[in-house]
Amino acid sequence: MKIQALVLGIGIAMLSLGFTNTPQAKKPTSQADRLFARAKPDDYMSEAGCAECHAKVSENFAASPHAAFVSDESLPLDKRGCQGCHGPGHIHQAEKDPEVISFTSMSPKESSAACLRCHEKTMSASHWKRTEHARADLSCVSCHKIHPDSEPNLGPGAEKKDPRAPFFVAKQEPKLMLKADESTLCGSCHQSTLAEFRGASHHPVPEGRVACSDCHSVHPTKDAKVNHDLIKGKCVTCHTEKAGPFVYEHDPVAGFTGRGCEECHRPHGTNNPKLLNSVTRGLCAQCHTDKLAKHYPGQTCWTAGCHVSTHGSNTDPRFLKP
Ligand code: HEC
Ligand code: HEC
Ligand code: HEC
Ligand code: HEC
Ligand code: HEC
Ligand code: HEC
Ligand code: HEC
Ligand code: HEC
Ligand code: HEC
Repeated sequence: MKIQALVLGIGIAMLSLGFTNTPQAKKPTSQADRLFARAKPDDYMSEAGCAECHAKVSENFAASPHAAFVSDESLPLDKRGCQGCHGPGHIHQAEKDPEVISFTSMSPKESSAACLRCHEKTMSASHWKRTEHARADLSCVSCHKIHPDSEPNLGPGAEKKDPRAPFFVAKQEPKLMLKADESTLCGSCHQSTLAEFRGASHHPVPEGRVACSDCHSVHPTKDAKVNHDLIKGKCVTCHTEKAGPFVYEHDPVAGFTGRGCEECHRPHGTNNPKLLNSVTRGLCAQCHTDKLAKHYPGQTCWTAGCHVSTHGSNTDPRFLKP
């Protein structure tokens, strides 16, 4: 009871002081948060001040999409212009205790926290922390770059060899301040995935008609939450007709059993036709263990002209007709 009363008391005290509405009420946990928390209004300099010493960077920043997002004069000082990202200029210039937020030299965690100060609406820090990429020590600037002419510095090995060449003919325009088109960017770290697209049957990523992010949500965003249901949900977004509903559903296609479409298909590419995991009857026999070599030998269950409607049928419970 005593503890509850105490907590309540502190809560009321904070409310009456107006703490709960200010960012300072949150305990600063990153370098950026700490820096902004200790800054006073006159620690900020005019934006033109930065240009005196960083002329080239300041000039090219004008061409960054971010310039428009952070230039509004009515924004609070800690969310405005260069200093919204790099910290207050007079602290950076101070004789004692100078400090600046340098995205290229700080740890990935600190660096991401500095972006997330403003990007809570895109994703919360706790959402980001749970992604494979955050856990693998990537930061936002592993994939995005803010100053248009900064060195893209892609993943290991990328400098030596363009991971797309010579197979990936079409190059999509980089968007959303990504360091490169997605095949190049993602492929610089995921080279073996990229190689799968060289298979005779593949999703048209090399041709630029499908992008990695059409199937993967790289990080959670407000429109696309963390996608645990990557396979079924996303295959069907584009191949609606394969998912039915059919009068006679085939369990794995309908997602009732196993990993859905992936029970029979590879997602990226393979040398088998139609992205199939296998071109033998073994594809079906992995589940239909009773239908082995003696059941219509010679051909596969679908190319023999029998189960031609593997995905489901509206007329035939054995999928012999559409
Ligand atoms: C009087 C000159 C001067 C002004 C004004 C100035 N800087 Fe700097 N800045 C420097 C110098 C010199 C360095 C290099 C310090 C070092 O390498 O340790 C630097 C370093 C930096 C870095 C880190 C560079 C790195 O390689 O890690 C950033 C980011 C930066 N400044 C941003 C800003 C911003 C934003 C402003 C305006 C608010 C600003 N600076 C104003 C002189 C200045
Ligand atoms: C939205 C956040 C953001 C804003 C706003 C911003 N920068 Fe940067 N800045 C970065 C990031 C991230 C890098 C690292 C390279 C990159 O991604 O382009 C960087 C790099 C730099 C560097 C090179 C040192 C380093 O850390 O590698 C300097 C200097 C710099 N910025 C100064 C400025 C100045 C001056 C302005 C305003 C005209 C400005 N920045 C606006 C995020 C920002
Ligand atoms: C001072 C606040 C602030 C900081 C810090 C900041 N951003 Fe932003 N950023 C914005 C605003 C505002 C927008 C536009 C609205 C939106 O998309 O949320 C934006 C948009 C973006 C977009 C979408 C661009 C587009 O074309 O739609 C990307 C990508 C992005 N930011 C990446 C970053 C990265 C990476 C960092 C860290 C280096 C960063 N931001 C730091 C304020 C900020
Ligand atoms: C592995 C690469 C990668 C990393 C790391 C990454 N992003 Fe992105 N980001 C992307 C891609 C790809 C897109 C566009 C496709 C999409 O919407 O999923 C994107 C889109 C965005 C957008 C625009 C989203 C929208 O809804 O319009 C913002 C803002 C953004 N990222 C901010 C960030 C921030 C902040 C971080 C760090 C916490 C970050 N990104 C880390 C690859 C990355
Ligand atoms: C800087 C290197 C880097 C870049 C760039 C990058 N990734 Fe990753 N990605 C990783 C690492 C490291 C992991 C952790 C698991 C691993 O080692 O494969 C990972 C994990 C993943 C996973 C989950 C893998 C699994 O085993 O479940 C997917 C999916 C993925 N990345 C897709 C992408 C896409 C799409 C892009 C481009 C928008 C991208 N990545 C860009 C390094 C990178
Ligand atoms: C047509 C949808 C689709 C496209 C396009 C796609 N992926 Fe995937 N990806 C998937 C699915 C589904 C899985 C799950 C595979 C599994 O669990 O066996 C996957 C798995 C992965 C994995 C985990 C490792 C693995 O192979 O299981 C990585 C890494 C990955 N994809 C990266 C990429 C990259 C990089 C691109 C673009 C060059 C890309 N993907 C394009 C659907 C796609
Ligand atoms: C972003 C849309 C999109 C998503 C998501 C998608 N596909 Fe595709 N798929 C395509 C396109 C485009 C083609 C090429 C069709 C063409 O060339 O006319 C294709 C072709 C195929 C083919 C035929 C390949 C061939 O060699 O003829 C198969 C099989 C396939 N997809 C299965 C899948 C599976 C399984 C998934 C989920 C892992 C999936 N698709 C997710 C767009 C998508
Ligand atoms: C039980 C195995 C199996 C499952 C599960 C399965 N497919 Fe298929 N799929 C096949 C076979 C076999 C073919 C080849 C049919 C042919 O050659 O006529 C095929 C062909 C395709 C094609 C190419 C069709 C064409 O006309 O070129 C697409 C697209 C496709 N599947 C999408 C999907 C999607 C999406 C899912 C999940 C909803 C899925 N498949 C689940 C076995 C399966
Ligand atoms: C992931 C497991 C799985 C795979 C792979 C699979 N099936 Fe099925 N299939 C099922 C299940 C479960 C049912 C419904 C329950 C049952 O009766 O066995 C079913 C039902 C059927 C039926 C309806 C007749 C019946 O026995 O009830 C036919 C025909 C069929 N499958 C053909 C195929 C063909 C052809 C393939 C290969 C292209 C295939 N299946 C691959 C799991 C699978």
